[in-house]
Formats: sequence, C-alpha cells, structure tokens
Amino acid sequence: MTTEPVKASQSADNILRMEGVGKRYGSFDALRDVSFGVRRGSIHGLLGENGAGKSTLVGMISGQKTRSSGQIWFDGQRIDASDVREMETAGVFLVTQEPMIIDHVSAAENLMLGIWPEKGGFVQWRKLRRDAARMLADTDIDPDARAGTLDAVARRKLNILRAMFSGGKLIILDEPTAALTVEDRRQLFDFMRRLKDEGVTFIFISHYNDEILDICDAVSVLRDGKLAGGSDDVAALTSEQLSELVLGRGLKLFQRNQLDLDRAPIAITIEDVVSARTDLGRLEIHAGEILGFTGLPGAGAKELARCLFGLVPTQRGSIRFHARGGDAEPLPTTPREAFARGIAFLSDDRRKDGAVSQMSIGRNISLSSLGAVSRMGFLDRTAEARLSERYFDSMDIKAANAHATVDTLSGGNQQKVCLGRVMATAPRLLILDEPTRGIDVGVKQDVLRIIDDLTRQGVCVIIVSTDTDELVRATDRVCVFGGGKVRREIRGGDIDAETLRDITGEA
Ligand SMILES: Nc1ncnc2c1ncn2[C@@H]1O[C@H](COP(=O)(O)OP(=O)(O)O)[C@@H](O)[C@H]1O
Ligand SMILES: [Mg+2]
Repeated sequence: MTTEPVKASQSADNILRMEGVGKRYGSFDALRDVSFGVRRGSIHGLLGENGAGKSTLVGMISGQKTRSSGQIWFDGQRIDASDVREMETAGVFLVTQEPMIIDHVSAAENLMLGIWPEKGGFVQWRKLRRDAARMLADTDIDPDARAGTLDAVARRKLNILRAMFSGGKLIILDEPTAALTVEDRRQLFDFMRRLKDEGVTFIFISHYNDEILDICDAVSVLRDGKLAGGSDDVAALTSEQLSELVLGRGLKLFQRNQLDLDRAPIAITIEDVVSARTDLGRLEIHAGEILGFTGLPGAGAKELARCLFGLVPTQRGSIRFHARGGDAEPLPTTPREAFARGIAFLSDDRRKDGAVSQMSIGRNISLSSLGAVSRMGFLDRTAEARLSERYFDSMDIKAANAHATVDTLSGGNQQKVCLGRVMATAPRLLILDEPTRGIDVGVKQDVLRIIDDLTRQGVCVIIVSTDTDELVRATDRVCVFGGGKVRREIRGGDIDAETLRDITGEA
C-alpha cells in the first residue's frame, strides 16, 4: 500500500490515466489534484465515504461532467471533450445506481440504446437486433422479454451488456450492489469476471470492503476530494487497511466486548426445525448474546432465520423462551405471529422490505408498532411521535428531524431507520439479515454499536452475515451452516477472519 499515486499510472498498459484532475463547484473543491491509472483488463476499485468525490470523478471520466483542472488520457488519446456521446463512442460507459433501461421495449432493443447513428449515415437496425439477440443468448436473459419485467441483476447486466454491445472498453459501475442481495451480487461478480477475461476494464465503486477484496485487482481511495492512497495489489490488503484508508486514522472500528457464554443463562431454545432446506437439531441462545449465522449461499443460514420469523414454511420445529417460564411452542407461521411473540426480523432485501419511500423517518420507525401506539384502533399520535423520536435521537440519524422523508437519507442512514423500526417492536429475539451490507464504513460502526447496546438489555440477536469482518467484530459465537445444518460452531476469541473463511468453504 502507498499514499503516493499508484505506480501503474506511469505504465503503458494503462487504458486510463488521470493527472492532477480537479473539480470545483463555486468555491468548493469537490476534487483536488487526483492522479492515478487504471490497468487495461483489470477491475479497479474506487472507494471513499459518502461525499468523497467518487461520482464526480467518474462523471468526468465518462463525459457527464466537465473538469476544472487536470488531464485525462483514455486508450492513448487525450480527452478534451466532456460529452457522453463522444466518450461512449471512444468506449467509456457509466452505469449508475439506477440503471438506464427503457421498460417498455425488449431486452434486445435495450442493448441498442448506445448505438449512435453516424452523422448523415444510417444504422442497419435489423442486423443490430439480430446481433443483440445473439449476445443475450449467452446469458440467462430472454432477448424478447420486456425490460420492465426483469429483476435487479438482469437490469444491471443489461446495462453492462449494452456497454459491451456498443464496443465498451471501460465500464464504470457506480455503487451497483447497494440494492442487491448476496446472491444477486455473486451473480453480478461472476459476470464481471467473465467479461474481464475477455479484456473489458472495469471501475467499480463500492462502500464494501469485502466486495473490493473479492473482485478488484487494484484500488484507489478518495477522501475529502483527494486521493488518500491506493494499491496495485489488492490481494495484499486487509479489510482494516482499507477502512483506515477510507476514513483516515481517526476512525475507531467497533469491537464488541464479548459475552462470557459460560456464565450467561440460556434464554431461548430452538429445536428440531425441518424445512425444505434446513434440518436443525437443537440450538440454544444465551441472554444478550449476538449469534452469527454464516455459510455459503444455500447452506441454510438464511433459510433458518426466515423459518424462525414465519417467512418460510416448516414441517416442524419449536421455540422456547425460558424467561416466560413457557413451554416450547411451534414456530410462528406468519411474520405477524412472530412479531406478536417477540421475534423481529430485518430482511436483506432493501428493495422490498427497506425504508418506505416518501414516508417520513418517524413513520418509517413506528410502522411495525402502530398497534402498540394505538388505542381502540385509533392511532395515538403523541405516543407514536414519542416512540419515533426516541429511536431517531438514539441512533444519530443524519437528518434535521424525524419529519423529513427517508428519501433524503444515505443508504446507511436508511438502514438505521429500518433497524429502528424492528427495535421499536421491543423484540426478545431480533434477527438481522446482512444488517450492514452496502453501507459505508463509518455508519457501519454506528449500526454495530446500536445492536451491541440492545443486547445489554438482554435481547438476543441473530446476525445472518457473509461479512467476516462484521462477524469478528460483533458476535459472541458463530454457527457455520452447510447442507441445512450447523456444521461448526466457534466462539469468543476463536472467531477470526481466516478461520471463518476456511471453515465456511469446508462446511
Ligand atoms: N452539482 C453539484 N454542486 C455542488 N456540489 C456538488 C455537486 N455534485 C456533488 N457535489 C459535492 O461534491 C462532493 C462529492 O460528491 P460525490 O462525487 O457525489 O461523492 P460520492 O460519490 O463519493 O459520494 C460532495 O460534497 C457533494 O456534495
Ligand atoms: Mg456517489
């Protein structure tokens, strides 16, 4: 790692090179003196906190934005224009968070959106349509499907394919994974690797260390509009080093003070859970414990979590809350029943189960607790406000007040709102599926701290996660799943990144 511009910037096999690039908005320097290079045929990560200047930089590379200073070379040519069409013709394509898709035409026709007819010339549309269909035949996307019917991964793939179809050499993805599930993300990465093997270069913007370490060859980090560092050898970097580069030295990474499991009483016993993809014997959870569930996709961690919340049908299974002196009861069969029995769940599917757009932060928080703040069917607005304010304040949500709509918040702050929503139901067992996925490192520490605080009041937490860093910092014990069963269990100081990675693969 180095705090100098990466050495590759001088090398001849750079497809892109920037020297002293800057961007001013009025008297504000959004970017200052940025220089680095991107190797041909590589996946180059671009990291930085919200507002660091990532989108501004790629906006200039792709011709969306004019630059205030510095020079950019692409494929041996100096770029003087700031014109999207000209850059696309040269082979640079930007895929933003909201993919550019025309919903009412077919997938194949969407590929042709990047084809600019020559001035005075004409385009052979019929041949193009045939070629587009042929390109899609290699993927799992139906060329004739109306684009509006495609799911999030397919839409993202379609944008990448559109770039390829138009002769894209450098494809820039600006936070493509923020709204994707873990499985979606894996598919997208496989697809990118395949294209990389065919010689395509990527710039990949992400908040997520694990993703960067997984898919990138090189990385550049922006902090406050300046290049904070970078590396040509991502394999040699640790997650901590990346975080430190992103946040500077001031950052204090969260580390849970782990529970002494030998002394903590058992609070919950789950037994004999059988569903299509789980087969669990017996699992005991200690009072105030944070228990990690991890495993490869399909190993059963995610499914068991959903069984416990009544989202996945089970053939049998029971749960017993010891504190109630209660007996073992069958698992809930609906989320409503689960809530009523003190089990809350936060899904990893932020598109479907995330913050409700255009609704206030406050209402988003109280949404699952409206019954508790109502009297005889009428909403008690004072009680609702009190509940919302409490979580709004304690979570340090970055907005003027709880009346603002959630749409103005960053992804990380929206996730705090969702967390507030499930916490407000006062659960005894809180299940969180990938709670910090896609949110920036600083807010991630806040979220982990909030979960940690909650367990001090005796609440039990299950975190389903594929983020080893999160498991290491935040849990007391980790169950590693394979074939629907808990294959291994590690606890306390034994939970480290290397062990987790090794046994997850074996399970
Ligand atoms: N059109 C604009 N006018 C003024 N300031 C802007 C504009 N676009 C971005 N900025 C500012 O420039 C900085 C960098 O923004 P951006 O590139 O979007 O960051 P990132 O993508 O890393 O989150 C931020 O402080 C942002 O508020
Ligand atoms: Mg951005």
